[in-house]
Amino acid sequence: MPWHHIADITDLAEKPVIGRECAGRWIAVYRLDDGYFATQDLCTHSFARLSNGEIVDGHIECPAHFGLFDIRTGKAAGSPVSCDLDTYPIRVVEDRIEVEIE
Ligand code: FES
Repeated sequence: MPWHHIADITDLAEKPVIGRECAGRWIAVYRLDDGYFATQDLCTHSFARLSNGEIVDGHIECPAHFGLFDIRTGKAAGSPVSCDLDTYPIRVVEDRIEVEIE
């Protein structure tokens, strides 16, 4: 599967989550203490962009109805969400952040 350049490290220097369109999908890219992570950006509950939400203890809180997802695994972790997020492998090559998307 190909790797796609989705952001630079500097893009996440001041904000811990950003949303990007990449390979025809909306992806949220996160900076946590232990590295970078990527999930689908659209909430599985309804139409909301998770990259507009807040990070709370390793989870992304949806800005629409405050559902929670584990950023590292994509697991739904708080009402009203019940369907998990897609997650994507991520790597850093020099100052570039890349995600693996089919
Ligand atoms: Fe995300 Fe409802 S749209 S919790």
